[in-house]
Amino acid sequence: MATYLITGGAGFIGSALVRQLIAETDHRVVNVDCLTYAGNLDSLDGARDHPRHAFHQVDICDAVALRAVLEHERPDVIVHLAAESHVDRSIDGPGAFIQTNVVGTFTLLQEARRYWLAQSAERRRAFRMVHVSTDEVFGSLGATGRFTEETPYAPSSPYSASKAGSDHLARAWQRTFGLPVIVTNCSNNYGPYQFPEKLIPLTIHKAMSDAPLPVYGRGENVRDWLFVDDHARALRAVVERGVPGDTYNIGGDSERRNVDVVRGICALLDELAPDPAGAHARRIEFVTDRPGHDFRYAIDATRIRRAVGWSPRESFETGLRKTVEWYLANRAWTERVMSGAYRGERLGAGSAA
Ligand SMILES: NC(=O)c1ccc[n+]([C@@H]2O[C@H](COP(=O)([O-])OP(=O)(O)OC[C@H]3O[C@@H](n4cnc5c(N)ncnc54)[C@H](O)[C@@H]3O)[C@@H](O)[C@H]2O)c1
Repeated sequence: MATYLITGGAGFIGSALVRQLIAETDHRVVNVDCLTYAGNLDSLDGARDHPRHAFHQVDICDAVALRAVLEHERPDVIVHLAAESHVDRSIDGPGAFIQTNVVGTFTLLQEARRYWLAQSAERRRAFRMVHVSTDEVFGSLGATGRFTEETPYAPSSPYSASKAGSDHLARAWQRTFGLPVIVTNCSNNYGPYQFPEKLIPLTIHKAMSDAPLPVYGRGENVRDWLFVDDHARALRAVVERGVPGDTYNIGGDSERRNVDVVRGICALLDELAPDPAGAHARRIEFVTDRPGHDFRYAIDATRIRRAVGWSPRESFETGLRKTVEWYLANRAWTERVMSGAYRGERLGAGSAA
């Protein structure tokens, strides 16, 4: 039994990892999250009140608070997921991305290093920190080729530039100070509990609200999709079998054009929640493209498959069906997180329960 400290554990991927660690292992989970609009304790489900789960509402830019949590909880593993994560928001307001993704990661690395140095030699050897990043740091591909761990960084958006900066810091803290850090770069995730601003939950939400379904440009942009529980399993595998100093690309071998993702959702909704007025796809609307929109991302996940022994369980078709079914069965979750009613402990602010 180990103690895992998860930053961003109330967000989309972090909450999936927290729920999985509580459900499938005996590990203790310490959840550090400042609860931005994207963080919701409601996403933790049964893990929230579990005796092996502890929550600390802490900003990763707050060194003093981080130090107190580390000294009190004494983690064996840190998995760092806290971040500002939405490209469109980074175009509207990049400052928060530099603050959390760059300054916050720097602060966490400094405090992790201070904590790690104070441990016994045995605990120092066993300690792991996984810095979770994105394939967007590699920039855009043309019609062919895939990102490997050796692909040079070429970020396009303020989001991916801030993540690239944090990756460089994480690598430097490993090389310069010996902190046992592993960096992972994952493709687009989808699944339950994703805030409805990203393509898949936004499309489901809009379709169920009889609203137009916006698709950037002509919908030709290609992303490689991975079901979120498969990403959580990959992170656990990297903690257990990854090599400090190495980086691992994580992907689902599921490249899809955005317009095909939206059409796939519409087809599932036609089956699971038919609209008597007609096919859901009739509401697809092509809108002005995002500035600097990367054309294509694709991951070569050979290293993590071979060296760590991980592979995804879900195909895009099985994962998308599970996702659409979940959003249809949990429309109240979407309404609550969009209204902000369930963010943090604001239960006194209204009849949020
Ligand atoms: N979603 C994807 O498709 C994807 C793909 C690859 C990598 N990633 C990376 O995985 C990580 C998690 O992504 P996500 O989609 O779950 O994001 P998310 O936006 O759903 O969640 C981020 C979480 O971090 C918390 N947070 C934000 N700023 C914080 C701060 N200063 N201090 C403490 N907590 C803070 C938020 O409250 C939220 O709970 C990010 O680092 C992201 O770059 C995401």
